[in-house]
Amino acid sequence: MAEDLLITKGTKQEQYESLLPQIKALLEGEPDLIANLANITGALKEQFNWLWVGFYLVKNDELVLGPFQGPVACTRIKKGKGVCGTSWAKAQTLIVPDVEKFPGHIACSSLSRSEIVVPIIRNNKVIGVLDVDSIEQDQFDNIDQDYLEQIIELINF
Ligand code: SME
Repeated sequence: MAEDLLITKGTKQEQYESLLPQIKALLEGEPDLIANLANITGALKEQFNWLWVGFYLVKNDELVLGPFQGPVACTRIKKGKGVCGTSWAKAQTLIVPDVEKFPGHIACSSLSRSEIVVPIIRNNKVIGVLDVDSIEQDQFDNIDQDYLEQIIELINF
């Protein structure tokens, strides 16, 4: 496996299309969950240069911080709290164009302006979330949702 990521310019869709097979290749044959989650955050951060990209995993009925890239973040989030806890409670992807307008948003970094949270669902249960933050408003749409959900599906939990 080559460890170098090929970074693409172009539309968001083109960037994801280039990244997706590379993430597949990174995960192939590697059973370790933390290693795989870590590499996914590294690949996404390198391609898109978002403020923060990382995982929270459900442990004892709380979301606990997992592998991430970006500034240090809150370690625990309760169900129904913030964007992450709401995505968990609703078992659905949430796109927040302006975090200041999301009631209860948890500001781990004051620089975050928009956010997308994708729940990881296995056997009808949310077992974690992928959270992405941008320093710019309105950075996430259904293209991000579509590709990030595909990336989440690649992970063996
Ligand atoms: N903003 C998130 C908290 C996690 S950080 O952004 C990394 C939320 O409201 O759940």
